[in-house]
This record gives sequence, C-alpha cells and structure tokens, in this order.
Amino acid sequence: MEVRVEGLVKRFGRVPALAGVSHTFPAGALTAVVGPSGCGKTTLLRVLAGFVRPDEGRVWMDGRDVTDLPPQARSCALVFQNYALWPHMTVFENVAFGLRLRRLPTREVEQRVREALALVELDRVPGIEGRRPRELSGGQQQRVALARAIAVRPRLLLLDEPLSNLDAKVRHRVRVEIRALQRRTGITTVYVTHDQEEALSIADVLVVMEGGRVVQWGRPEEVYARPKDPFVAEFLGSTNVLEASVGRDGAIQPSRDGRLLFRAEDVVLLPADATPPAGSVWAKGKVVDCLFLGAVYRAYVRVLDVVVMADARSPASPGPVVLAVPADRVMDFSHQNGEGAAKETA
Ligand SMILES: Nc1ncnc2c1ncn2[C@@H]1O[C@H](COP(=O)(O)OP(=O)(O)OP(=O)(O)O)[C@@H](O)[C@H]1O
Ligand SMILES: [Mg+2]
Repeated sequence: MEVRVEGLVKRFGRVPALAGVSHTFPAGALTAVVGPSGCGKTTLLRVLAGFVRPDEGRVWMDGRDVTDLPPQARSCALVFQNYALWPHMTVFENVAFGLRLRRLPTREVEQRVREALALVELDRVPGIEGRRPRELSGGQQQRVALARAIAVRPRLLLLDEPLSNLDAKVRHRVRVEIRALQRRTGITTVYVTHDQEEALSIADVLVVMEGGRVVQWGRPEEVYARPKDPFVAEFLGSTNVLEASVGRDGAIQPSRDGRLLFRAEDVVLLPADATPPAGSVWAKGKVVDCLFLGAVYRAYVRVLDVVVMADARSPASPGPVVLAVPADRVMDFSHQNGEGAAKETA
C-alpha cells in the first residue's frame, strides 16, 4: 500500500514535533526513518497509525485520504520498542488478541496465529504458544509482538525502535529476520530507529529526519555516499569534520569558512616521510591513540588541532604520519557551515 503524507505539522508546545513533513512511502518497500532523539520519528508513526491528529497536512493510503479515519479503519499495525505484550496472557492469546477483536471465527483465529508464529519462526520452539511473556527471552518476546502485529494482516506495518531492548547479538539476528519477513510478506513497512547502522542495513529507502523535517531520503547507499548537508554526513557513519579547505597541492589547510568532512574508513595513514598519492587530499598528523574494534583498528590522529578517526586493518603506532584521503571521498561543505537546510530554501 502506498502511503503519502503532505505538509504534516504537529505541535505539542512551541517547537513543532513535525514541522512540515511531505513524503511518499512506496508500496511493498521497507522505509527506515532515522534521526536524532526528539526529531519527530515516533510522532510521524503515530500520525500514520491514526493515534495522533496532525494540526496540518494530509495522509493518503493508496490514494485515499485517511487523515480523519480512526486507527482501526486504517489497516495498520504498530509495534513498539517495549513489545507491550499482555503479561497475563499466553503467547497464543497475545497473538490472537487483534483477531478476537475483529470477531474472527475460532478456526480462523487458530490458523492465523499458527501462521503468524511460523512467519516469525517461533513455531520451532515446542510449546511456546502456552507460555507467558515472562517465560520468554527478549528476542522471543519481540517476535511475539511482531507476530501479533502481522496476524491481523495489516497493509502497513509500523515499527518503532523494535529492537532497542535487545542485546547486540539478538538485535542483529532479529533485524535479519524482520528484513526476510518483510520481503516474504511484501507488507509496506516503516521502520523507525535511531541506530544508523540498523537503518542502513535494513532499508530499501532511507529517510533522515531532523527537527521535525525530512532532510534527505533515497537508497541507503546513495544517502551515505552523497549526503546533502553536514548534518546528514555527520549522522551517517564515522565522520570527521575539519574547519579547513584544500590547497593547490591537495594539502589540507586551516580555514575559518572551510568545512571538510570525510569518513574514518576512507583515511589512509602513511609514514611521515611519504609523498601523498596523486589525487588525494592530505595533511601531516600525529597518531595519538589506536583502538582495536574487532573488524578494524581505529587510529586517532591529531590534525590541525583536532583529532580525527582513521580505520585500518593493522594497528597504527603513535607518532607522526601523513594522513591521506582520496579527493573524491572528501565532502566539501565549505560554503554551507551546517546550514544546509537553510541554504536549500534560500
Ligand atoms: N505527547 C506529547 N506531548 C508533548 N510533547 C511531545 C509529545 N510527544 C512528543 N512530544 C515532543 O515532540 C518532539 C518529537 O518527539 P518524538 O517522540 O516524535 O521524537 P523521536 O524522534 O521519536 O525521539 P526518540 O528517538 O527519542 O524516540 C519531542 O520534542 C517531544 O518532546
Ligand atoms: Mg521515538
């Protein structure tokens, strides 16, 4: 189901939670919405679900204006980060809850519960239907919450930080499962998270929000490679920021109005006496620390009075180095100075 919003504004106090959001969520796709705390992600989901009435703007689902429809008339299911399972009900009853509300015949309720539990791969756990939420692991509880949401066969699945209560290992696994489930069912899904890695890895379409607005959207690879302003560039990835500009020979020079951004994975560290490779932007620096992160080592390098991050496959020893970044990997926002959005409207 294609979901379109236009000009959504929602005020709770003086600062609007939504300050004019217009976007089309494509049918059958998983759209991940990311942004810092308080940028309006949950409010946007609640408007889509119909729990919050926007002050301005409209919501369309498959071309139909649903702005004035109550939640139960919208074919949406919303999953929260804290699962919100009924503690006194069994897994079966939790998943059946929405179906009973809809007064489906017993036979159909049983069939749909079984189908939903199979979709989230809980059918492999013997006897799980009869257990209560407290007898389940966090990952299993979250799967029950997902099963409950999809059992009603919604046409729009809204997930609000669904994995944030899980530990890292389980989070990764359930993330892959949600992605697979979404592909299998083709349910149009909006997935809210403040974890940029989660968003990049799971999304067909990535939407970045800031201050109640959508600042950029597109395929995750596109947004990551071509952030349109310093905010998005800094939000995605391990991004270094230097108040600097690039001189004629590629040397990085301090500059009050300059703003160069580059990511830790794009930095190459060379011996202090090395000639920087052609086509690179470079500076002399000094390694001050180096941490082992598992997959890579992260060196901290003092350059122009700030410390930048540089990732490498081998550890860097403390001391002087030449830091080089391929020129096409340097994001030059020298004339924006953090006011990308303001500049765009100018
Ligand atoms: N019911 C409410 N009453 C008053 N203010 C609210 C209400 N709901 C949200 N807000 C405010 O609106 C803004 C956006 O909140 P929202 O919950 O949408 O942010 P979020 O992006 O989901 O943040 P987080 O990542 O922390 O969950 C915040 O400033 C918040 O304090
Ligand atoms: Mg939220």
